[in-house]
Amino acid sequence: KHGYFTYDPGFLSTASCDSNITFIDGEEGLLFYRGYPIEQLAEHSDFMEVSYLLIYGELPNAEQKEKFTNTITRHSMVHDQLTHIFRGFRRDAHPMAVMVGVVGSMSAFYHEAIDVSDPRNREFAAHRLLAKVPTIAAWSYKYNVGQPFMYPKNRFNYAENFMHMMFATPCEDYEPNPVLAKAFERILILHADHEQNASTSTVRLAGSSGANPFACVAAGIASLWGPAHGGANEATLKMLEEIGDISRIGEYIKRAKDKTDSFRLMGFGHRVYRNMDPRAAIMRQTCHQVLDELGLNDDPMFKLALELEKIALEDEYFVSRRLYPNVDFYSGIVMRAMGIPNSMFTAIFALARTVGWVAQWNEMMSDPGSKIGRPRQLYTGPERRDFLPLDQR
Ligand code: SDX
Repeated sequence: KHGYFTYDPGFLSTASCDSNITFIDGEEGLLFYRGYPIEQLAEHSDFMEVSYLLIYGELPNAEQKEKFTNTITRHSMVHDQLTHIFRGFRRDAHPMAVMVGVVGSMSAFYHEAIDVSDPRNREFAAHRLLAKVPTIAAWSYKYNVGQPFMYPKNRFNYAENFMHMMFATPCEDYEPNPVLAKAFERILILHADHEQNASTSTVRLAGSSGANPFACVAAGIASLWGPAHGGANEATLKMLEEIGDISRIGEYIKRAKDKTDSFRLMGFGHRVYRNMDPRAAIMRQTCHQVLDELGLNDDPMFKLALELEKIALEDEYFVSRRLYPNVDFYSGIVMRAMGIPNSMFTAIFALARTVGWVAQWNEMMSDPGSKIGRPRQLYTGPERRDFLPLDQR
């Protein structure tokens, strides 16, 4: 027994840290944030409440929620100098490339967070990252499409503000559709934290040396970008567009099973879940709601995804390996239906996961026993040997 859960001894030796934040049971397909099931948070909560919960450990009361939300809202603008950093990128730079660079540059603007031993500075950094990453993400898109940056508006909530900064222009306001804004909020909640995944472990390892939290989150964004991780939502939609038609599903299932073919079924499988990723089920339901709201129930991509999931879940290769759809399988279809371009899917995953990264980083930095991370290796290189002069090589 270790905390809430009983682990087999072998697992305990592989665990990289203790944490009170997120609990995953891969066998049962369970996901809790601070003990609350993800299904209940996705249904009843909003992203500011979930962010408060992840950072402070409890759901906020009305007064705490209002104060926290106001703080985040009032820090959503970025230092005006930061706008010049965008201009150093080519217009066709991938939004994730821009986000790695611009979020990392926040290290040069918010000096107060340099002394991370002071909890007040850690809270300062957490609030500024949570507040400003959506603005940087939306501006990465605006820069990419050659439109002027749209500044956040304090009258919008977190999800609405991001959609405003993405879709409004100086010529035309954007009034968020409440159903789409709620669905987007749910996407943020589902992606907020996920225990010690690759990008969170990256943030923890970088932060364990006492590095600046903005630079650590930039490292997390870099790790998340990979197609095996957060880049899978963009890769899943690209795969569905390549499959194109239900009649071609069999060909791709065959390729996914062929070990000589590097093709994998994107949005399927997981390092931890040996059951349905609970987020995928909620995302599928959200997909239905969004497509229904937009009158796109016949969306060919969604129909293709549903059929692909059905066929794969009846195929011995996937069943025997306990491979199920993960959070990335449906998220791209939902965001595409909302008018969000493929290139922004992982950027949105990054803006959602920022709160998980800062909560996990803060948990580590608050632990007086925390030490610099130092993974070890099994050496498989040459034995000791003497130097060879150039004329003998
Ligand atoms: C995320 O860690 C997290 O929590 C991440 C995340 C988060 O919230 O932070 O949940 C977000 O990254 C979700 C995962 C998104 N990635 C994808 O959807 C990319 C496609 N999936 C795979 O690349 C793969 O499933 C991984 C990378 C997710 C896991 O790879 P593993 O560790 O190799 O999977 P495994 O050990 O379970 O594999 C078991 C078998 C292997 O075959 P055999 O050696 O047994 O013959 O299943 C095969 C794998 O080759 N396999 C797949 C497959 N995933 C695993 N075969 C075809 N298609 C796939 N998608």
